[in-house]
Amino acid sequence: MMEKNAIERKIRELLAKMTLEEKAGQLQQCGPSLVGAFEVSFEELLDMMFDGRISKEEFDRLMSGAKQDFHEDDIRAGRIGSFNGIGDAATANRLQKIAVEETRLGIPLIYGYDVIHGFRTVTPIPLAESCAWEPGLWERTGRLAAEEATAAGVHMTFAPMVDVAKDARWGRVSEGAGEDVLLNGDYGAAKVRGFQGDDLTREDAMAACVKHFAAYGACEAGRDYNRVDMSLQKLWDEYLPSYKACIEAGARAVMPAFNDINGVPCSANEWLLRDVLRKDWGFDGMTVSDANAIAECVNHGIAADKRDAARQCLRAGVDMDMTSNSYIEHVQELVESGELEESVLDEAVADILRVKFEMDLFEHPYRTSEEREADAMLTQEARALAREAAVKSMVLLKNEDAPSGLPEGNSGNKKILPLAPDARLGIFGRLAADRGQMTGAWAVGANPDDCLSILDACRERGISYRYLDGADNPEGLSTKKRILEIAEESDVFLAVIGEDKEESGEAASRASITLKDSDIQLVKDLLEVGKAQGKPVVAVLFNGRPLAMPWLAESADAILEAWHPGVEAGPAILDVLFGDANPSGKLTTTFPYASGQCPMYYAHMNTGRPGGKSKFTSKYLDTPLEPVYPFGFGLSYTTFAYENLSVEKTEDGFHVSVTVKNTGSRAGEEIVQCYVQDVAGSRVRPVKELKGYKKIPLAPGEERRVEFELPSEKLGFYSREGTYVVEPGEFRIYVGGNSRDVLEAGVIL
Ligand code: GLC
Repeated sequence: MMEKNAIERKIRELLAKMTLEEKAGQLQQCGPSLVGAFEVSFEELLDMMFDGRISKEEFDRLMSGAKQDFHEDDIRAGRIGSFNGIGDAATANRLQKIAVEETRLGIPLIYGYDVIHGFRTVTPIPLAESCAWEPGLWERTGRLAAEEATAAGVHMTFAPMVDVAKDARWGRVSEGAGEDVLLNGDYGAAKVRGFQGDDLTREDAMAACVKHFAAYGACEAGRDYNRVDMSLQKLWDEYLPSYKACIEAGARAVMPAFNDINGVPCSANEWLLRDVLRKDWGFDGMTVSDANAIAECVNHGIAADKRDAARQCLRAGVDMDMTSNSYIEHVQELVESGELEESVLDEAVADILRVKFEMDLFEHPYRTSEEREADAMLTQEARALAREAAVKSMVLLKNEDAPSGLPEGNSGNKKILPLAPDARLGIFGRLAADRGQMTGAWAVGANPDDCLSILDACRERGISYRYLDGADNPEGLSTKKRILEIAEESDVFLAVIGEDKEESGEAASRASITLKDSDIQLVKDLLEVGKAQGKPVVAVLFNGRPLAMPWLAESADAILEAWHPGVEAGPAILDVLFGDANPSGKLTTTFPYASGQCPMYYAHMNTGRPGGKSKFTSKYLDTPLEPVYPFGFGLSYTTFAYENLSVEKTEDGFHVSVTVKNTGSRAGEEIVQCYVQDVAGSRVRPVKELKGYKKIPLAPGEERRVEFELPSEKLGFYSREGTYVVEPGEFRIYVGGNSRDVLEAGVIL
């Protein structure tokens, strides 16, 4: 990469040549918009489909007549600096050629896209992959995403998303690393390393755009786009560190969130975007608004109109306007009228040019070709990595003893899972066959036909199975009668249930996060027949959020949480069910008992009356206090024991060590978790905070001493005065295989 001073000199030289219109053009990010014989706007057409005024088929017919407008004349006039949503090499190079060869200054475009969890090789949704607790894996899948996406012309991804999400009603919990700020930070930093590599000038380097800055996951009531209101201490303690970890990892872009923080929308929040991001954290990359977010400052009620919004957001530190046209329509006139200093505009242009220079786009504007694109996608190595990530993302939530007569699994133990290699499956539920649902939300480069469903994998593996999609038989037979037919040829029932991919992700909040009635009824029917015939019922869950499923947890014989696993969904699930792989995933979100408990998370405060048996304590009349599955929980096909926890005070904090032993009959990996509690601080502190974790392989009978260093610097918090403090006093250290079942030791800092 060009030396920093050389880049700054080139930026200054270029700025000096640019007109006001060309400067405003660099701030403009367009998407390929749709044109066609629509009497209504595309957004209105979408609404008409979603609210049923037109059918999906009618919508598709209208869309088929539309063509994409790539705004070539605006590019030629220097009025566009970036595109969102260009995902093929030919289009990327065609538009880049206009920008580089047909404009006055030849400033290249930068292409952004939502490459969240893979591009053509779709890997598990982030919430799933976070359950691997494995930064090395997260980095490797990030690198794969960059290799494929940059081959398709992408320069920058609008990822990683590291919004701490403690409320399972929020659909975008699927897009991040769950409820813990340390895990989100580690996940995001690993993705930044994977996306960007160690040389941004490489053609397979993809700039990371950390989002959504900040605290979008704390939207009130779990309702997407809703307000965020919290103390600055809570913001600093529980939300900002995950974004900071990504900046420290070298991310070159940041996307402000849609939400306000304490009444000031992030897009117009100078404290957030200049004081915190740039002055405190030293960030010198570019910021790009979320889609239409600048214009939406009018809806927020902080701007009188788009012109006012443009002035406020540019002044606050939003460099690039994603598709609201507020900047391109108003910035030039704002500067000419003296309401906006040209220096503010120049600063934003400089940030954008800096990233373009760092990526060497001026010297190498054509970073890909159609040949490279064709060779890059969906290689065998990519599929193997996607399958590894999917296996490591899955969480075994329940695994009861096998009923007599069930062929023994290949681990020789008496549990239902793993299944014997020749076990015959009775598979129920449409998600077992639906390849398209396997990608989960935000799979922009996906081709659903690339995905392998459970049925595909059964066929590929030669598994004997019968399948019923859960709907009643057209001939009027009830599902139960069909189950009976199938039962004769099955050893085990698989109930494949959960959420469609549209039920999580953006604009997909759910007030009730229970299973569908049809899924519950299917499991009930299977259990009724299964109990009578000695056929265990294994639930396989596809979902993009924690679900409130106490009945299933109580009733099913085994439960495998598969999330939305990506292109290798089916093979990975069978790898786990048949024991080729020993599940090691651990939940990174709490599974509540009821929707009404949301937000529910492990790092909660104790309160003055911690929930207990007596009436006047903090709990619900109608719901147990404990979650169905706690943060950090996950079973294995083997078992692990923890003993001899030791904590020694060091010069700079604590040294923690514990012995972990594989007490079962097969090799496995255990995610050892280390939590801390500051027992009495100048502000109340959570009952537990994750401060370290290690994933260790153990052979049967093997034991290992696992060590954690806890520097005191990591044990602090933001005081009443808003400064970071580390206070001496009593601490409790908890170590275990989840946040509930732990060994404990008390120490004094
Ligand atoms: C969306 C999302 C954001 C995404 C952007 C571009 O509204 O909020 O995460 O990166 O638009 O698609």
